[in-house]
Amino acid sequence: MPELFSEFKIKGVRLKNRIGVSPMCQYSSVEGHANAWHLAHLGGFTIGGAGLVIAEATAVSPEGRISPSDTGLWTDAQAESFVPITTFVESLGAVPGIQIAHAGRKACTPKPWEGERQLEPDHPDAWEPIGPSPIAFGGSVWRVPHEMTLEDISRVQKAFADAATRAHRAGFRWLELHFAHGYLGQSFFSPLANKRTDAYGGSFENRSRFLLETLAAVRAVWPQNLPLTARLGVIDYVPGEQPLEEAIELAKLMKAGGLDLLDVSLGFNTPDISRVPWGEPAFLAPIAHRIRTEAEIPVATSWNISDPQIANDLISKEKLDVVLLAKGLLADPHWPYHAAKALGIDHPGNVLPAQYAGWLKGR
Ligand SMILES: Cc1cc2nc3c(=O)[nH]c(=O)nc-3n(C[C@H](O)[C@H](O)[C@H](O)COP(=O)(O)O)c2cc1C
Repeated sequence: MPELFSEFKIKGVRLKNRIGVSPMCQYSSVEGHANAWHLAHLGGFTIGGAGLVIAEATAVSPEGRISPSDTGLWTDAQAESFVPITTFVESLGAVPGIQIAHAGRKACTPKPWEGERQLEPDHPDAWEPIGPSPIAFGGSVWRVPHEMTLEDISRVQKAFADAATRAHRAGFRWLELHFAHGYLGQSFFSPLANKRTDAYGGSFENRSRFLLETLAAVRAVWPQNLPLTARLGVIDYVPGEQPLEEAIELAKLMKAGGLDLLDVSLGFNTPDISRVPWGEPAFLAPIAHRIRTEAEIPVATSWNISDPQIANDLISKEKLDVVLLAKGLLADPHWPYHAAKALGIDHPGNVLPAQYAGWLKGR
């Protein structure tokens, strides 16, 4: 059996294989509620055989949404709206996960297909983005965020903890903190976005403080026997970014603070993404492997891992613990079935539910 299809046990959770659905915002929610679209979207990948299904960046507070159409977890009714999804994912033996997030200074944009920009302050759906420092992200994300006060910081950290409690109540068994992609957690860590002179800015220790405190607040409410993970942007490929060694040090501190797995990703702290090696398959895997070795923490990563042989090698050579896919699954929600075929599994149809498996014998 190719290692990609081996089980992965972490805390009280067992993934049936090493294939995870990377979180993907759908910008399809009304008032933060999950709906039939989200069920079809995540249900499709569950039918397709992924062992872990992580729901999109879900805002912990209204101003933490990327767009007005993001899902949220700041009300109990929003949590309730996810129950059909967690129930369905569980029913097929996969693990339902969710990424909880605050968009920080990159908040308040329309749906991506409605144009790359931020909503003007006088737009009826707009709100004021917040961030560690009053510095705009740049490019089309031009609005200068309100510099967070200490009260804002504690309020947002409490919102993360409350969202985690609601996520558990909704049936999620895998939680990912979004500390990547230039959103709030990431921007506290990045010297490109964080110019504070108080305890939350400046030194490595201070720039890590928001992330570690948020992790602690969530760990205190998220069940000990369930995996708590974070997606951290560890590299931006731009001048002025923090050295990779700092991200590795932060991973060690997060592990000591109760983190169970790190989802290694990009920083996206500036609009300049020209040096990211987009075309290279699995380009973050060597960095993820380094973090796995030096911080001694299980890792996952995404970014261009849609070749089944490469995905399998990354697992069998113990470079990664879980591979995450986004665009590869959009293109082919039955990617695990096709990967099983490509890797020579006897009855690849068995990767799919009984309703499909028998009909695909010999195919
Ligand atoms: C439609 C779409 C929405 C995304 N939304 C999120 C998100 O909610 N949270 C996140 O951390 N990354 C998000 N991403 C990034 C993916 O999770 C993934 O890391 C990235 O696409 C690289 O993986 P891939 O090469 O398999 O596409 C999104 C990507 C896509 C294509």
